[in-house]
Amino acid sequence: MGNKYKIAWLPGDGVGVEVMEAAKIVLDRVALDAEYIHGDIGWEFWCKEGDSFPARTIDLLKNVNAAMFGAITSKPVKTAEKELVPELQGKGMVYRSPIVRMRQMFGLYTCLRPCKAYPNNPLNYKEGIDIVVFRENTEDLYSGVEFNTVPEKLRDTLAELSPAFKAFKDLKSDEYAISCKINTRKGSERIVRAAFEFARKFNRKKVTVVHKANVVRATDGLFFETAKAVAKDYPEIKMDDANIDAMTMWLLKNPFNYDVLVAPNLYGDIISDLSAQMVGGLGFGCSANIGAKLGVFEPSHGSAPKYTGQYKVNPIATILAAKMMLDWLGETAKGKIIEDAVAEVIAGGKVRTYDMGGSDTTIQMAQAIAGKCAVPAK
Ligand code: IPM
Ligand code: MG
Repeated sequence: MGNKYKIAWLPGDGVGVEVMEAAKIVLDRVALDAEYIHGDIGWEFWCKEGDSFPARTIDLLKNVNAAMFGAITSKPVKTAEKELVPELQGKGMVYRSPIVRMRQMFGLYTCLRPCKAYPNNPLNYKEGIDIVVFRENTEDLYSGVEFNTVPEKLRDTLAELSPAFKAFKDLKSDEYAISCKINTRKGSERIVRAAFEFARKFNRKKVTVVHKANVVRATDGLFFETAKAVAKDYPEIKMDDANIDAMTMWLLKNPFNYDVLVAPNLYGDIISDLSAQMVGGLGFGCSANIGAKLGVFEPSHGSAPKYTGQYKVNPIATILAAKMMLDWLGETAKGKIIEDAVAEVIAGGKVRTYDMGGSDTTIQMAQAIAGKCAVPAK
């Protein structure tokens, strides 16, 4: 008989490989009935093939229940081009972040980032913080519609359509650049609804909509207006809103005023890092990218090249990402076993990676967590 689940296993590179090894120790401990299928992704494949997210990996993702993803090194476009094998250089290949492509290609519109202060974590900003960030994951300034050199046709059209554009119109095509922030009503509605549905399901009291609608009127205005309309369907949940700049300040000043946050892509990227820092930093920041058919689970940290090979980074973010995957698959009992074990190891204070002030390795941390997993006897 086959396994119940097929999981794409995408370690990527840098410390991505190490934290995924750690997560696997814990998943094996709770005996998830899954086949883990390795997928090529990362810097190595950019250099060798000109594509860090090869077609074979895209095909793999079409045929699995979920995926776990580690981390990937990215470099600026010009540096990236120089690292291609000689045969591929000068062919106009442009490096684009594979995770951003994956989110867009598979419609993984919900980026869910819980930020919970597990008791006795020496890195907690304050004990008791429990914030959940819902970040729109496919649109906004991440639309990928960008112009390094602005085509004349576009310049003339903009000059005709927008009085504000007159200030830029006389610049030469390579003297300015345009990145399009594109937000749709559908995209805004589905992420806000996801946030409210979560609040309803888990008995959360408030959803705060983060935006900058007073300045970025068109796109953030659309997001905010849509959010207000969606909120009407959830009368039992309070809704408020904040501008992104004030939000960062208030979040630090009084994190206990916040419960569920929902934001367009870039603001969500920012506030999720801030929120993660308040509960221990990126070693604790777990992330789910969820669409209608596929969920991809990852730590929100990068590949940390300077630590590669040292097995010193904290695997808890990735282990909590695995827990989120279990929840999403409906394996909530196993998910809870993992979360309880993480909480117990943190509370115990004996096993600590370098970020927590200790010297335990990535693998020792994973083994300690696996050791606390209260797996029921077969
Ligand atoms: C994240 C990361 C990514 C993002 C990068 C690696 C493209 O910062 O997942 O938050 O900006 O979304
Ligand atoms: Mg980020």
